[in-house]
Amino acid sequence: MRPFRSENISKPRGTLPFAYPSIEVPLDVEVGCGVGWHPIRYVRENPKRTLVAIEHTRTRFSRFERRIASHDPLPNLHPVHADAVKWITHFLRPATVDRYFFLYPNPRPKPWYSMPFFARVVETLKVGGTVTLATNESFYYVAAKNYFTRVWGLEIVSDRSIAPIEKPRTHFEKKYLSRGESCFDLVVRKS
Ligand SMILES: C[S@@+](CC[C@H](N)C(=O)[O-])C[C@H]1O[C@@H](n2cnc3c(N)ncnc32)[C@H](O)[C@@H]1O
Repeated sequence: MRPFRSENISKPRGTLPFAYPSIEVPLDVEVGCGVGWHPIRYVRENPKRTLVAIEHTRTRFSRFERRIASHDPLPNLHPVHADAVKWITHFLRPATVDRYFFLYPNPRPKPWYSMPFFARVVETLKVGGTVTLATNESFYYVAAKNYFTRVWGLEIVSDRSIAPIEKPRTHFEKKYLSRGESCFDLVVRKS
């Protein structure tokens, strides 16, 4: 795989630098959060953690913003309208992230796990930090597991199918489960 070259990645336009929470607050990052169901529920259930939730499409990010506005203040949620590759490359320091979430990423044009950029994800993860991946594509799930363990040196924490009766965490999870499709959830850790 080509090495990741951060110098080739431009800064996200119009985005303010990230003000890290204090050191004792765990920092989590969700990549491609869509219309934001998961981030809002997650920060309400985890008031002592901070979540950066990144979405790059204007339409989905606007729906996410409207959803945030309809809730009581969510001080531990940091919504970001940007390309996650640019934002993570420019604003996160090595070994500062506790949990990454990639929930139902688009498998095309290129899966996250096989991009040189994933080296930056691993670099910014703390030792003991985790990456959660959910997908409805079995090929993606199998290939991600291989890449995570063999290329990125991550160890499997849990590896399961999502039962159709589980409460969906995201907009896409709801869509896939309601169609009767299989969904997979993989958690890996940096050891
Ligand atoms: C299939 S949707 C899943 C959305 C949400 N996670 C869910 O499960 O409902 C994938 C999302 O990732 C976003 N996305 C893809 N590449 C991205 C990138 N480089 N930076 C930020 N968001 C990205 C897309 O715009 C889209 O909203």
